[in-house]
Amino acid sequence: MAENQDHNAAVQQVDRKTHLHPFTSAAAHAEATPQIMVEGQGVHVRDDTGKQYLDAMAGLWCVNAGYGRQEIADAISSQSRRLPYYHTFLSMTNEPAARLADRLISLAPGSMSKVFFGSSGSDTNDTQVKIVWYYHNVLGKPEKKKIIARQRAYHGSTLAGASMSGMPHMHGAFDLPLDRFIHVDQPHYWRHASAGQTELEYSAELASELEDCIVRNGPETIAAFIAEPVQGAAGVIPPPEGYFEAIVPILRKHDILFIADEVICGFGRLGQWWGSDVFGLKPDLMSTAKGLTSGYVPMSACLISERVWEVLREGSAQYGPFAHGYTYSGHPVAAAAAHANLDVIEGDGLVENAARVGAYLQQNLREAFADHPLVGEVRGLGLIAAIELVKDKETKTPFDASVAVARRLHELLMEEGLICRPMFESVGFSPPLILTTDNVDSIVEMFSSGLEKLTVELTAARA
Ligand SMILES: Cc1ncc(COP(=O)(O)O)c(C=O)c1O
Repeated sequence: MAENQDHNAAVQQVDRKTHLHPFTSAAAHAEATPQIMVEGQGVHVRDDTGKQYLDAMAGLWCVNAGYGRQEIADAISSQSRRLPYYHTFLSMTNEPAARLADRLISLAPGSMSKVFFGSSGSDTNDTQVKIVWYYHNVLGKPEKKKIIARQRAYHGSTLAGASMSGMPHMHGAFDLPLDRFIHVDQPHYWRHASAGQTELEYSAELASELEDCIVRNGPETIAAFIAEPVQGAAGVIPPPEGYFEAIVPILRKHDILFIADEVICGFGRLGQWWGSDVFGLKPDLMSTAKGLTSGYVPMSACLISERVWEVLREGSAQYGPFAHGYTYSGHPVAAAAAHANLDVIEGDGLVENAARVGAYLQQNLREAFADHPLVGEVRGLGLIAAIELVKDKETKTPFDASVAVARRLHELLMEEGLICRPMFESVGFSPPLILTTDNVDSIVEMFSSGLEKLTVELTAARA
């Protein structure tokens, strides 16, 4: 036991000394006791002290197949032994990557025709921006370059990904967003609609705001619009009724490509294969990552529609080879992992499970928490949800940012053994798609206990 503690302390010390962590205060980490996760099975992970957690975030929205899937580990091991690496530049290929491209196209909405592989959601979105710019250059519209995204969107951390993300805290210190990137309002009905406005009216207002933005900038300068079907890291924001129906015709009217960022929504999270299926979208480009391999190894894929592909093909005569790609594009081990993961999703009916258990999760979260005085809104769809905390339920007044209320609830939930995610004023859920109704009951029980502890703390602080 003591030996184990010494071992863990040594890991923590070396981590503090040498490891710069993503989305972590550099100064705070230098003083922190990093939590070491050591193993996972099903929907649970265990840390170095032996404490078990129900991971209601599937890591970072990605372990869709759950932890400890032998089939995926075996596929990784067997492909690593056969051919651990070969590139896909200059028409080289490997069987897992070639077959994976074909498999993704057969799963995707009908308009998709080609796949470009990468290693992360961020790089896939950067690839999309480059494809969009290339597309308009080939078509002789070099001034058509601006990308419209939405506030609080998350599209990654690379230069273009972070520029498209509508998160001010990702911009200031890095001189972002780059020019050519514009943000319009996020479609959050509960928070932003006017009193008495219906969802349809609010959607029409957002569409008109988008069109104003396009006209103000000059439609001849706007290349593409990017949107997650349900905003994830923004705090899980499903679109209001009629939103995409109102937006898409405006994009078509002004010859603006539509990129659906399916990095979270794809591979079953909303109870259908794609967020695009749920909302009847036919995007020109789709970004996927996370659930493609359930996070077992990194992989991403851009799905390219026939319409865009035709122009890329035309571009060869003018530009020669498509001069974009990564060492790890079409990585054979990642592709083998993706196949095994898709076999699990299909074989175990995980998309259907996400719909069935997702409906149970949504209903139970609403029943248990919607009336709680600290809860402003319970929202979500399928196996993605969030609970937004408010200081005043009637007026929807948020807590002061200095209270960091969602972060505090997250800490209390960790003590309960439940991993959720603090996002702005909300706490989110995005569990593995293998979740059972019993797991949902446990989530509700632990959340309830954490929320009561938070209530007591806040009441004491006010007294
Ligand atoms: C919608 C969306 N797009 C892109 C990304 C970036 O993915 P990655 O962290 O793999 O670069 C994320 C990550 O959370 C995401 O949620």
